[in-house]
Amino acid sequence: MRTNSKTETVFFCKECGYESKKWMGQCPACHSWNTFCEEPVTKTTGSPASGKRSLQPAQRPVTLREIEASSEERYDTGFSELSRVLGGGIVPGSLVLVGGDPGIGKSTLLLQLAVNLAESGRRVIYISGEESLRQIRLRADRIGHTEGDLRFLSETNVERITELLEKEKPELAVIDSIQTMFSQEAQSAPGSVTQVRECAQALMFCAKQNNIATFLVGHVTKEGTVAGPRVLEHIVDTVLYFETGGSGAFRILRSAKNRFGSTNEIGVFEMGSAGLREVVNPSELMLSGRPKHASGTVVTCLMEGTRPMLMEVQGLIAETSLGMPRRQAYGMDYNRLNLLLAVLEKRGGLPVSRCDVYVNIAGGMRVGEPALDLAVIGAILSSCRDIPVDEGTILFGEVGLSGEVRAVPQAQERIREAEKLGFQRMILPLHNLMRLEKEAAKTKAELVGIRNIRELYGLLSGSEASGT
Ligand code: TYD
Ligand code: MG
Repeated sequence: MRTNSKTETVFFCKECGYESKKWMGQCPACHSWNTFCEEPVTKTTGSPASGKRSLQPAQRPVTLREIEASSEERYDTGFSELSRVLGGGIVPGSLVLVGGDPGIGKSTLLLQLAVNLAESGRRVIYISGEESLRQIRLRADRIGHTEGDLRFLSETNVERITELLEKEKPELAVIDSIQTMFSQEAQSAPGSVTQVRECAQALMFCAKQNNIATFLVGHVTKEGTVAGPRVLEHIVDTVLYFETGGSGAFRILRSAKNRFGSTNEIGVFEMGSAGLREVVNPSELMLSGRPKHASGTVVTCLMEGTRPMLMEVQGLIAETSLGMPRRQAYGMDYNRLNLLLAVLEKRGGLPVSRCDVYVNIAGGMRVGEPALDLAVIGAILSSCRDIPVDEGTILFGEVGLSGEVRAVPQAQERIREAEKLGFQRMILPLHNLMRLEKEAAKTKAELVGIRNIRELYGLLSGSEASGT
């Protein structure tokens, strides 16, 4: 029951949901410009409207020993890539937000997930506020489905949705999308910050109370015309982003927040004529189309969460025709590239300051790991001297400011992955190699440990320099 309700307007930042009494040009919370919009809010005094939605009746605090330690059950998603990103499957009662650009395949992914779960005998309700039931039917026909307890609903009223979910208590609910939902409690238009937050909160309470794992679709637009999923990130348990890998050939599912697992994991998918297919061995995909006997390309092995992944690093170096040399970094940090170039010039004696330098991680991957350094140096060196690096060679290692090659974590996993794909020679930090002595004896590949980037020069040009 609402008493003394009074309508007034406040301003919200469309990016982060910051609330302010007056309009501002720049958001003090997320520093984005021109993102404030005015929305009506209903301030209630007396018993607040949200008061009726409390998780549980008031309880006394308990000690850890009193809390029942049940072995955590998780639903299998039917996609090993998705399950890994979620931290080993879907936690019952969890709220997961899937964000991504329009047309990336969010609805397809969640429909396939719904079909998979229904096929394994779970009860699923898929609620769409965007598409008609016929459109969903067309998509379902494309991805192929069998009969299971999977039901569809076209609805945008969140009160009616929560009522239905409370009655039906499915194990999984999909809401496509949160921006199309509206709540009678809030007065602004669907897609506005207040509405999105209100609806997400209502769905969160419904999910927790009834133990319904709920997936929300959230749009991100460059203009931020609809409330971005960032407003929701605080409310949900897990945030997944679905994005394209560069050329658009495959899709990468990343987790930005996860209360039930690591956020470093990624899942790789490919969009085909019958929906999304998971790419279980992305290393092969990353390396497909690699030029043979070309200079300026090397292969490295980087960790994406717990999974090692081989990637091709390309470098191109050309004498500059302008006063200011151009530097471009695709897939890696621009400042890190500049740092590595300075190290190459100063410690490696390679005159790069008068050259344009381009570095690209093939396949459109974005890498933030320092283990990439040595491969970048190798690619630039190979391009500069126009010497192709042997195809069966991979290199990884962090490079420090004095040109030293520093150890990186999980060297063993990287070596194993490279070996699986037939690489016979690995150039790695000497400190890693020393620690790996026992393991090294087991691999058939030749392991070359280096201490300094200068040692790389001889290795790449083929003449065997100092080694193990
Ligand atoms: P969709 O899941 O609707 O994207 P989102 O919900 O993120 O906006 O689908 C995205 C695109 O995928 C759409 O342009 C059509 C394409 N697609 C395929 O190529 N194959 C398929 O089997 C399906 C279902 C979609
Ligand atoms: Mg969609």
